[in-house]
Amino acid sequence: MSGAASDMETSQSSLESSEQVITPWEVSGSEEAGIDYDKLVNQWGCQRITPDLVAKLEAVTATRAHTLIRRGIFFAHRDLDVILDSYQRGEKFFLYTGRGPSSGSLHLGHLIPFLITKYLQDAFDVPLVVQMTDDEKIYMKGLGVDEARTLCHENAKDIIAVGFDVKKTFIFSDLDYLGGDFYRNIVRMGQLVNLNQAQSTFGFAGETKLGMVGFPPVQACPSFSSSFPHIKSWHSARDGFKPDAASKKTNDKGEKSASGVRCLIPCAIDQDPYFRMTRECAPRMGYHKPALIEASFFPALQGAKGKMSASDETSAIFLTDTPKQIKDKINKYAFSGGQQTVEEHRRLGANIDIDVSYQWLKFFLDDDDELARIGEEYARGRMLTGEIKAKLIDVLTDLVVSFQRRRAMVTDDMVYAYMAVRNM
Ligand code: TRP
Repeated sequence: MSGAASDMETSQSSLESSEQVITPWEVSGSEEAGIDYDKLVNQWGCQRITPDLVAKLEAVTATRAHTLIRRGIFFAHRDLDVILDSYQRGEKFFLYTGRGPSSGSLHLGHLIPFLITKYLQDAFDVPLVVQMTDDEKIYMKGLGVDEARTLCHENAKDIIAVGFDVKKTFIFSDLDYLGGDFYRNIVRMGQLVNLNQAQSTFGFAGETKLGMVGFPPVQACPSFSSSFPHIKSWHSARDGFKPDAASKKTNDKGEKSASGVRCLIPCAIDQDPYFRMTRECAPRMGYHKPALIEASFFPALQGAKGKMSASDETSAIFLTDTPKQIKDKINKYAFSGGQQTVEEHRRLGANIDIDVSYQWLKFFLDDDDELARIGEEYARGRMLTGEIKAKLIDVLTDLVVSFQRRRAMVTDDMVYAYMAVRNM
């Protein structure tokens, strides 16, 4: 246990000594510099996604990497190279991501992991499980159980509207699905981690809800294919999946030889603590460590210090916003890296590193050449803040309006189909 204990503890103590606080519930960088991602990567021990790794991803999938990867928004990983190697050898894997349903509608930041997941599902042609952590949001946001279930159903529609293939996608609610093999894995993991370790990894304190203290294994265990016994192909030798055959023998570190189907988790980097814990426990449970591909935060309208929050209306654009709301919020709140007066702006240009409109275009403007041109023009003061905002308003209005069109077509029956406990 000592290895796991020390890794989990160092990460948090070094985290407390800096001004930057990042847990799955709180993201705040220093006032001046915003989030220091290098520091985070070092403290947490993930890897940077290098140009070589992007090239390898493109070679293995024979498709261009998603813009969110090419532009370094998904910037860190754990064992992505291992997944690519094993995929190349003919071994399949599955994707796992999730959503804590805390608001009636997703905002743009919530969309990011799902966009990359959709691209990965298409590029690799692999199955996907999506966890709805309605239980987590009851503990963390004080939602009632019925309210959490309603939000879960509504958020599932948003996720379906991203366009996942129903034949390869299983969405599940913790409140409904927990039990059986999944719960047995949760209990196995619950035995491997003690309260000291959970406190240091997640920042739990005296006032933390008791249910929340027990929650981390719930988010961890969808990483293991054995949690999904109804996905029959994962438990037989068909389709390039390696069947489960957990050996009972352990080595001197208490680890078993790994079995089951490998897992790749797209997420924002704030979810890393959950999966650090998962990766510590996996070998002792006889499973592969899940691989991760991790995104930087989507900045709030007010600037890059924090992340967009569903509980602060003015920090976020929601997928339910009208074109007028989008326009007004951007014009009113989008933090500008431009200068105070037009004269100064023409002379000095904008600081595009802190300009929210430019940062958001990096996420959502597909055309590389146009993005480069805008960056250049704006940084040189030839383009004004009002003009870049107008461009952003166009791009986001298109995105949100077309999303809403797809969302309107998602029926309750479709939700039940994606959420049916079934083989895939
Ligand atoms: N905890 C996440 C949230 O609050 C939801 C989640 C569950 C998740 N499993 C995940 C996110 C796996 C990314 C990957 O939104």
